[in-house]
Amino acid sequence: MTSTGSYDFDALNDAAFQTERLRQQAMAVRGIEASILRSAGIQAGHDVLEIGSGPGYVSDLLSELAPDGSLHAVEPNAALLKQLPENVKKPPARGLHPHQAYGNALPLADASIDFGYARFVLQHVPGPQAVVDEVFRVLRPGGVFCAVDSDDGLVIFHPEEPRVTEVMQSAQAVQHTQGGDRFIGRKLPGMMRHAGFSNVKARVMSLTSTELPFGVLFNILLGYKASLLGESVDARKLYEDLAADVAAGRRLVAAGVFIVSGQKNV
Ligand SMILES: C[S@@+](CC[C@H](N)C(=O)[O-])C[C@H]1O[C@@H](n2cnc3c(N)ncnc32)[C@H](O)[C@@H]1O
Repeated sequence: MTSTGSYDFDALNDAAFQTERLRQQAMAVRGIEASILRSAGIQAGHDVLEIGSGPGYVSDLLSELAPDGSLHAVEPNAALLKQLPENVKKPPARGLHPHQAYGNALPLADASIDFGYARFVLQHVPGPQAVVDEVFRVLRPGGVFCAVDSDDGLVIFHPEEPRVTEVMQSAQAVQHTQGGDRFIGRKLPGMMRHAGFSNVKARVMSLTSTELPFGVLFNILLGYKASLLGESVDARKLYEDLAADVAAGRRLVAAGVFIVSGQKNV
């Protein structure tokens, strides 16, 4: 694997917006995500692995939740990895370790990690099973892997908007040709079992336009897709129309993610 599949940060024509989108996406759900990570089993003294850390907004949360341990942040894109130190406010006691690497070839020893996390990464990776297998290799017995990812089957616009349906279908096709998968969520439990994980648990969590500011929800749902499709979509007009509908109570939007965890047997 020598490409970042359907997430080629250097090729996105709106890099600053995409970084801001990742920041918003991390901040808007930070409290909920902290509870998800705690229920999955992250502990203060853990050696933590983050696959596809991007610019490091989620790395900051992982460092806060494992302050006495270490964080190994793996990210193939050099420009994103460079931003990591400035976005992790307080590195864990045993260090913040950035690695420029792909998830299927981790520069880490067997059985050296307590908790692995991959958030909105596996949907982009050609051959995600190889990444799940590799995480299994580096986990200590008893270690846990938690993956959070999308599944377009969990997106609801009521009433439907034909332009949204079109953007989603085109983005699914483009992402697929680049090796990604917009329906990865439902496949993660099977991949974890295949890698050897036990105690595999899958949960679906949905957020609606009555809970999150619509701008944030739109960027989570359609911001990346619109970038993928470039000039062929008038994302601003679409946003303005939908935002007006939501504000007037004419439309409800909901989006869900799969939260899947598995444990390596002791
Ligand atoms: C949508 S971004 C998510 C970033 C971060 N996890 C977050 O939620 O803010 C996907 C990230 O996965 C990285 N990525 C893509 N292919 C990868 C691979 N094979 N191994 C590890 N990371 C990869 C991309 O470079 C990008 O930083």
